[in-house]
Amino acid sequence: MIRVLVLGAAAGGGFPQWNSNSEACRRARAGDARARPATQASVAISADNVRWLVVNAAPDLREQINRETALHPKTGLRSSPIAGVILTNGDVDAVAGLLNLRERTPFSIYAHARILEVLEANPIFGVLAPDVVRRVPCTLEETFVPRDVGGNDIGLRVTPFAVPGKIALFMEDAHDSDDFGTQEGDTVGLEFSDAEGSARLLYIANCARLTDMLCARCNGADLLFFDGTLWRDDEMVVSREGQKTGQRMGHIFMTGPRGSIAGLAELALGRRIFIHINNTNPVLLSDSAERRELEAAGWEVAYDGMELTLP
Ligand code: MLT
Ligand code: MN
Repeated sequence: MIRVLVLGAAAGGGFPQWNSNSEACRRARAGDARARPATQASVAISADNVRWLVVNAAPDLREQINRETALHPKTGLRSSPIAGVILTNGDVDAVAGLLNLRERTPFSIYAHARILEVLEANPIFGVLAPDVVRRVPCTLEETFVPRDVGGNDIGLRVTPFAVPGKIALFMEDAHDSDDFGTQEGDTVGLEFSDAEGSARLLYIANCARLTDMLCARCNGADLLFFDGTLWRDDEMVVSREGQKTGQRMGHIFMTGPRGSIAGLAELALGRRIFIHINNTNPVLLSDSAERRELEAAGWEVAYDGMELTLP
């Protein structure tokens, strides 16, 4: 069995985003039930409902923990059900929340060496004292067993794999116009199963394009969380809310023949759920035509507080 809690469904900036005066963000602020606010993307995963792995530490992690009783301390004066945090990339929306986890309660950070370098390069992450918080490098295509602070197997198996993407925005090398200095390990997807292998879940919230290898890996999964940043590639340019296309940001888009809905249509998947949804994406609005189109294609849109149990 695998239990999943969606801690946050939105992309960087959240919904509403602090500086956005778009109609969608105004509706979210006004309490419109069809424009439900969302914090920045993260999920918590457990095989025993007791010990949890958090996938990415969003800047909203403190709020997310306070909202989820499963993540509240249960024993002693200081403790946490969070056994570990796994990082899929070095962007602000994936790592900044680590700062909420200071105060000397042990847990493990699992990440590719490229992302651990980002933490090393930013001394503020030293608030997670190295004698308390373990930093564990993970290797692409190598399955690892996450452990609790006592060293016990928490019943999950995790395999990180490479996903076409981009180096963190604040690490971009402006002199490298091709890929901004992106290297292997800058964007990873995660495959989870329980120790019995009874359920398989994939988390791919940053993906620039689909490849045959990626599709083959996803095929047959019980659940796929996938990059839902944009509905269309030029959405931010057209709405004049930004200058960048999805391709420039390292994110594929949903609609059209080259979009993710079409690209993943033939795969056998138990459930397919978009996560990391940008505040410009109309699918955040439950009364939008785009949301209806997405649902008609068999997709769901993650929301804060969504709970799933596999199988
Ligand atoms: C992204 O997903 O592209 C990043 O979160 C962008 C950002 O850091 O603002
Ligand atoms: Mn992001």
